[in-house]
Amino acid sequence: MDEEFFPMIQDILDNPVFQQLKDLSHHGPDNSVYEHSLATARRAYRLGKGVRLKEDELRSLTRAALLHDFFGYDWHDGWYKEFVSRYRGFKRLTHMHAFLHGRIAARRAKIYFDLSPEQCAAIASHMFPLSTSLPRGRQAWLLTLADKMVASREMSVTAGRSVYGFWRRLFAYS
Ligand SMILES: [Fe+2]
Ligand SMILES: [Fe+2]
Repeated sequence: MDEEFFPMIQDILDNPVFQQLKDLSHHGPDNSVYEHSLATARRAYRLGKGVRLKEDELRSLTRAALLHDFFGYDWHDGWYKEFVSRYRGFKRLTHMHAFLHGRIAARRAKIYFDLSPEQCAAIASHMFPLSTSLPRGRQAWLLTLADKMVASREMSVTAGRSVYGFWRRLFAYS
């Protein structure tokens, strides 16, 4: 798999701005946006292979999947909570990270990498149903599926570690 997978994305992985994603934590303290993005690209590649996408479409999907969370900020930071708190009601909901970051990632990825309108749309809608646009086309649906599969695995690992830590602390004090 790796002989075909890495050449599709190596220029993005080598880009210093993309490398900065290693410093942004994502689904837990041991999971970076870089790690999550690479895992999502792998999953999307496998799903694309499974439905027999042609080589150019598979490459397009894999690259879009790698860039799907290229929003470039730490959404756990206090400044982001402060930013969201400026809004009320429905506007607050649509400014929450889950709703907003797909569009930000698409816009930012287009600046740094040569993306097609289809790739940008797939990135913008990847948080469906928490997105303002519907996934349209195979690439968009495969990307949103790949992200959900990877994110749920990563969040389960983090939740499992938290529960384990809680029980360890509980028994240590009892
Ligand atoms: Fe995302
Ligand atoms: Fe993601």
